[in-house]
Amino acid sequence: MTASEVVLYEKRNGIGYMTLNRPKALNAYNMQMRDELFEILGAIREDPDVKVGVLRAAGDRAFCAGADLTEFLTAPSPVVARQVRWERDVWGLFLGIDKPLIAALHGYVLGSGIEMALCCDIRIASEDAQIGVPETGLGIIPAAGGSQTVPRAVGAGRGLEMLLTGRRVAADEACRMGLVNRVVPRDDLWPEADRLAGRIGAFSAAVLGRAKRAINRGLDLSLEEGLELEARLGATLLQERMKEAR
Ligand code: COA
Repeated sequence: MTASEVVLYEKRNGIGYMTLNRPKALNAYNMQMRDELFEILGAIREDPDVKVGVLRAAGDRAFCAGADLTEFLTAPSPVVARQVRWERDVWGLFLGIDKPLIAALHGYVLGSGIEMALCCDIRIASEDAQIGVPETGLGIIPAAGGSQTVPRAVGAGRGLEMLLTGRRVAADEACRMGLVNRVVPRDDLWPEADRLAGRIGAFSAAVLGRAKRAINRGLDLSLEEGLELEARLGATLLQERMKEAR
């Protein structure tokens, strides 16, 4: 396990485990967490031994209760805030990783918590999960992509309802909405994420990367462009395999 303070990192059997570790503050997302996640995500992206990433959180009560409110609006100026964001674009890094990422969610999953999870590819929730985007009530709008990723996951109507009301949805409803892929008992959450990561990690990294890119990038394209993307990605994969076979 790598020694960092608020995000633990462990590599096992081709899986990179990121564990948010501020349980006393309900794993609220603070600047230190941003910096440590930035380093760890970079390691996951670059490390050929890691094929799948799992994002999970320590403690009984929360995956992440959103941005750390004690740091709320504390940047010295908007210019500095923008500069830091540019230099350590955790959200861009999350979305730019070609390896499959799985989020294991429990307890409170609020604001940046669900936004982080929506930067992952597959979300598993335990029965106690409560998911919401409370920013509107704080006088802000989501800042980690939530205004774009929530409606992409659940559709505009449900996304608007979540953002405009700040209402928390329970695990079952989140699953029906498509916000999470499946719900499991609390004790099964980490083992289920492990099983899924192991199953995915058994496949070729080159294939996984192409499959992920085809879907995620394709969703932003017209069907015609998406089909071209799929054909292009398929062709490069085939070329690589033919080269390997020679
Ligand atoms: N930032 C910083 N600290 C937070 C936090 C946050 N977003 N959310 C919870 N904490 C801290 C609390 O200050 C408290 O710390 P303390 O024990 O030192 O007093 C500890 O975590 C436990 O939280 P508490 O509020 O006592 O638990 P609760 O069961 O009464 O309520 C929540 C749980 C999640 C409903 C409540 O903590 C909450 O509403 N948090 C803020 C959610 C939010 O608006 N996030 C920002 C989104 S942009």
